[in-house]
Amino acid sequence: MPEGRNRAFVIAVDGPAASGKGTLARRLAAHLGYAYLDTGLIYRAVGLALMRKNMVRADPGAALQAARALSLDDLDDPELRGDDVAGMASQVAALPEVRAALIDYQRRFAQHPPGKAKGVILDGRDIGTVICPDADAKIFVEASVDTRANRRVKELRERGVTAIYARVLEDMKERDARDRSRSVAPMVPADDAHSLDTTNLDAEAAFQEALEFITSQNMSDA
Ligand code: CDP
Repeated sequence: MPEGRNRAFVIAVDGPAASGKGTLARRLAAHLGYAYLDTGLIYRAVGLALMRKNMVRADPGAALQAARALSLDDLDDPELRGDDVAGMASQVAALPEVRAALIDYQRRFAQHPPGKAKGVILDGRDIGTVICPDADAKIFVEASVDTRANRRVKELRERGVTAIYARVLEDMKERDARDRSRSVAPMVPADDAHSLDTTNLDAEAAFQEALEFITSQNMSDA
């Protein structure tokens, strides 16, 4: 921890599916030497646990049990990246009891980053509004839904998964609508978030804009 500061510098990166927030957050973390947590993986892990029990709808009791049983090792499973898992993740993520069970884990990570990193980056939907409302820098990453669906199709095909654009677009719209309209921790930009639209920005340009914003946020003592 740097002198004069007794807590980690916290960066919250939120935004909808395939907006580029994961790529951005990972790159910022590597550049700054900060710890990184992809909070989407946590909800995906709970969703995948239910799918492995052959559930197609998220049963609240089973989802809460899976959330409580979650371990760090569960976040390394390559199957978490599937789009079917994303759909189930957004169902479990709408359950207030599941979200409540996962708050402490995320806050602990932010307050005590692994490896005593001097800063931490969390990406998700509610980091700047609910998990870390006092974050030092908040960024809300957006992009048009067509751009995002195209990115997701490309990403899936690069992983060797067959992906049909119209289907991916439809799934994404459905998931965004559920994430935006749920009663608990809906996906909305925090009032003090810097809005970053990546529709016409490549990864490098998005990184530069984000870094410029972050370094303007009292980073001198971090
Ligand atoms: O990678 P992508 O942006 O498509 O999704 P993700 O970040 O892995 O998140 C999967 C789902 O988990 C989202 O659609 C949300 O429903 C949920 N989620 C959430 O509710 N809160 C978070 N902090 C992160 C994810």
